[in-house]
Amino acid sequence: MKDDAGNHIFTEDLDYSQTDDTSIWGNGDPETITLLKRLISKKKIVGDWLNFAAGDGRYNTILLSSVDSLIATDIDSDALKKLMRVTPKSLLKKVTTTEQNITKQFQFSSQTFDGVFNTGTLHLFPVTILESIFSEVARVLKSGGLFIFDFATDVKRIKPDGTIVGRSGVDYTMGEARKVLVEILTENKFQFELIDCVVPPEEVTSGDGTYTFSCNFLLVVASRL
Ligand SMILES: C[S@@+](CC[C@H](N)C(=O)[O-])C[C@H]1O[C@@H](n2cnc3c(N)ncnc32)[C@H](O)[C@@H]1O
Repeated sequence: MKDDAGNHIFTEDLDYSQTDDTSIWGNGDPETITLLKRLISKKKIVGDWLNFAAGDGRYNTILLSSVDSLIATDIDSDALKKLMRVTPKSLLKKVTTTEQNITKQFQFSSQTFDGVFNTGTLHLFPVTILESIFSEVARVLKSGGLFIFDFATDVKRIKPDGTIVGRSGVDYTMGEARKVLVEILTENKFQFELIDCVVPPEEVTSGDGTYTFSCNFLLVVASRL
């Protein structure tokens, strides 16, 4: 990872054009995929969506199969190029991409989106930045809009030689994450459901090389009142 923690920018030092069509983050967590399929079957993932810090598009194609339109953003334009490369041709007309630093004010008007999606990212940020991100998500969502996200806790990244791979220097336990998220979601007038999940140890190859990754995570479905 190209760690610019001072500026809260955590990009991969990786040439995405040289990676295969699978996301560098794998095929997706089963709980997240099951949740998305359940919400799609209930027609909850419709209208105009934002997928921020979308990376190389791990869950983007599932979202695209259901939404009317989607903006995928990331601070790393190379990740977004791969996201477009791996999007099935039939879905390309629904998606646009744009660079976005999520620690800044979102570049979208208030009440633009029916839904906002994010995975694999929010646990990297300290509480002050989370407060800003959640307040911006609440602003750009329409009333009744959904915010679906995950939040990793108790993260472990261990290289074969036992070296620990560091990230932002911010680490949340499950208890800390739950407390912070309940406070921020309540403050921003969301109704929400928190689902406890586990990622068993899996091999990941990112800008930090190959390492074993494991964590717990909260999967959250929040509705803007
Ligand atoms: C672990 S990846 C997750 C990607 C994707 N959401 C997924 O679940 O597969 C984190 C992503 O956040 C992006 N990112 C890091 N810092 C960012 C920032 N300040 N603003 C926007 N995106 C950022 C990285 O470029 C990377 O694509």
